[in-house]
Amino acid sequence: MERIKVDLAERSYDITIGAGNLHTLGDRCKALSLSGTAAVVTNRTIAPLYLERACASLAAAGYRTVPVKLPDGEAFKESGTLNLIYDSLVEAALDRGSFIVALGGGVIGDMAGFAAATYLRGIPFVQVPTTLLSQVDSSVGGKTGINHPKGKNLIGAFYQPKGVLIDVALLDTLPDREYLSGLGEVVKYGAVLDAPFFTFLEENVDRLLARDKDALIHAVGRSCALKARVVESDERESGLRAVLNYGHTLGHAVETLTHYSRFLHGEAVAIGMVQAARISRSLGLCGDEECRRIEALLQKLRLPLELPFFPFEEYEEALSHDKKVRHSGLTFVCNKGIGDFSLERVTDPGKLLKICGIGA
Ligand code: NAD
Ligand code: GLY
Repeated sequence: MERIKVDLAERSYDITIGAGNLHTLGDRCKALSLSGTAAVVTNRTIAPLYLERACASLAAAGYRTVPVKLPDGEAFKESGTLNLIYDSLVEAALDRGSFIVALGGGVIGDMAGFAAATYLRGIPFVQVPTTLLSQVDSSVGGKTGINHPKGKNLIGAFYQPKGVLIDVALLDTLPDREYLSGLGEVVKYGAVLDAPFFTFLEENVDRLLARDKDALIHAVGRSCALKARVVESDERESGLRAVLNYGHTLGHAVETLTHYSRFLHGEAVAIGMVQAARISRSLGLCGDEECRRIEALLQKLRLPLELPFFPFEEYEEALSHDKKVRHSGLTFVCNKGIGDFSLERVTDPGKLLKICGIGA
């Protein structure tokens, strides 16, 4: 079992990571001095797998539990579904002395977190992430929110949880593609923040692919610790936190161009990281060997590497879609060797595309 502190003054909290520790949820909530009713927000895929165990643990610790089961999918990360959460909270008469448990992947975590941030002007919440992506990324750092028809995550709040409980055994039921996609985000941390961790990943590919619990506890723990350090120094993303967007600039362009239907998020980020490494090399920030290692690790983790074909103009449009980018350029995250990074201002996104062989 690992414990990592996210040090944010009065908003500080611990992340506990273990294998088979879901049954400790109730005691953990007690230790956090949470009281009253626990509304457990989840979806209809996760409910039959883990809801009963989560509620049993909470009930054993003396909490009244109110399960809130939502439809599954990114398409439901929107205001109508958010209202279903509010409806359940109002119906169950949850007061300020109660709390929310987010039991699910990033969609549930973001949405339940935003409900917690806004219901009665804010009630506490605890994250119990059930996907690898949510265990290493979305459950830590306090970004909560929903999508708007005009764009992803446009409505939201920075709102930190009271605690994060990670049980890597919950990943046993995660579909392969979702699991591998989460590994893409794990590679990100090593590539730009921690060279020894990158080496650990290279040396433990087989154990990670086999979902070995000890390897996972280390990989998830290290990822969370690295994210915690970044969030501690830049909670509201005014500078350094942008490093977490390594691989995301081109990854988002790929997701936009393929209408979020062809690639999972971590797959698109993997493609974006390969391109970011090539761009970093062309700027003299890393060499052939580092580029090769990043590509080789992602390939061994069965992630896609190459940009799908779209005309230069479409990529350019996808990269400069918002007005801010059009006027002041974008911040592109490069890897400096392996384990370090450099934030580069790019005023002409077309140049990046040419380095990647698009429109060259
Ligand atoms: P997800 O929440 O949609 O989960 C993926 C799929 O796996 C779903 O069908 C889900 O029901 C299923 N699932 C979850 N846990 C399972 C388990 N243990 N066993 C079997 N099936 C399981 O996707 P995700 O990748 O976890 O999260 C993506 C979301 O996270 C996006 O909305 C993205 O915007 C958000 N996100 C937020 C942050 C942040 O900092 N808040 C960071 C990254 C991503
Ligand atoms: N996923 C990026 C962040 O939390 O800032």
